[in-house]
Amino acid sequence: MNDRTGRAAVLFVDDEPLVLQGLERLLRSERDRWEMRFALSAEEGLRLMAESPFDAVVSDLRMPGMDGAQFLAQVMERWPQTVRIVLSGEMDRSLIFKTVQTAHQYLAKPCQPEALRSALERALALRRMMGDRRLKSLLPQLSSLPSLPALYFEILSEIQAPNASFKRVGELIARDVSLSAKMLQIVNSAFFGLPRRIASIPEAVSLLGFDTVKGLVLSVKVFSQFEVGRIPARWLEELWRHSSRVGLFARGIAAYEKLPRRSLDEAFTAGLLHDVGKLIFAQNFPDATVEMVTEARERPLWEVETGRFGVSHAELGAYLLSLWGIGEEVVAALAHHHRPPETGTPGRVVGVVYAANALEHRLAAEEGGSLPAGSLGIEICRQLNIAGRVSGWEEICRKLSAEERLHA
Ligand SMILES: [Fe+2]
Ligand SMILES: [Fe+2]
Repeated sequence: MNDRTGRAAVLFVDDEPLVLQGLERLLRSERDRWEMRFALSAEEGLRLMAESPFDAVVSDLRMPGMDGAQFLAQVMERWPQTVRIVLSGEMDRSLIFKTVQTAHQYLAKPCQPEALRSALERALALRRMMGDRRLKSLLPQLSSLPSLPALYFEILSEIQAPNASFKRVGELIARDVSLSAKMLQIVNSAFFGLPRRIASIPEAVSLLGFDTVKGLVLSVKVFSQFEVGRIPARWLEELWRHSSRVGLFARGIAAYEKLPRRSLDEAFTAGLLHDVGKLIFAQNFPDATVEMVTEARERPLWEVETGRFGVSHAELGAYLLSLWGIGEEVVAALAHHHRPPETGTPGRVVGVVYAANALEHRLAAEEGGSLPAGSLGIEICRQLNIAGRVSGWEEICRKLSAEERLHA
């Protein structure tokens, strides 16, 4: 995009000179990688953007004159491919929620240097993806990309607060009846192996922990954004069932492999959201989607999509999640859930999610579902370094799935 010097260009906007000086000091060591500019008002920020667009903007919310929400709305309209990050000390939630539709990521002031650096890094990793010509040519054709659900922002800001509590997060979720119902259903499934039936949301939150809850809220709300429009309800229901089972399978496999807690959460979130790219295709190209799904009876859907659009739902979903600032391991698992990366050693979560998806397809086909049977490519398993593990994984998924049916 904006590659005057080969570095990524980042614009910071804040009406407090001290804040900007602080940021400049904090990020001085990144000068070789990032070209940074600083603006004391939204108006000045827009002027700089007009001279030469930036790859990312980091903006305060409360500013005299044009505020951060208006500024980001303008950036979104005029330079849609610029990554938009809010960095705000504003405790006033109403302002935060005004920006929900326009910001990709939200950071609270004061911000740890590491948090800011990694948020920017993740956002700018998009440039590498955007460097992919095929994705770049598809993006302008998309009229709608799901925004981060408002409730997710709300929960995130609660979790980031110094005195975050399970109870308050539980209360936020409990206000949403259909989310609560789906959450209890998942928590009580055999896969979590909880000792007793959970009936209250705050209790579910304390048992699951914040990171699992974040993944759950995100995926349930993203799916519910699609409940309207031209997508057949049955297709959506089937995709949700598949996705929630892949999330649970992936988490089960990660637990069986005794991976650290963090990987369990990543596997779960990636499993739940692995096919989100299908929703983006369906929302933006409903007619093409119907045709592609028909064609996919003969060969894999991702191949059909790639033939038609240059990218598949795997890359498209990964793009969306990196835009939302979701961790790299999850993004990689989405990108590679049908094919391993061409270079480098994939992380363990990548292999787990790949297998969970293929196993879910296989089990669902056996159980009479209408999704085409997935195959675990032997070559892919070898490349992902999971070849020797898969039969054990299949066994536990079968066992859990059978318990699950007894439960239901
Ligand atoms: Fe997929
Ligand atoms: Fe899938």
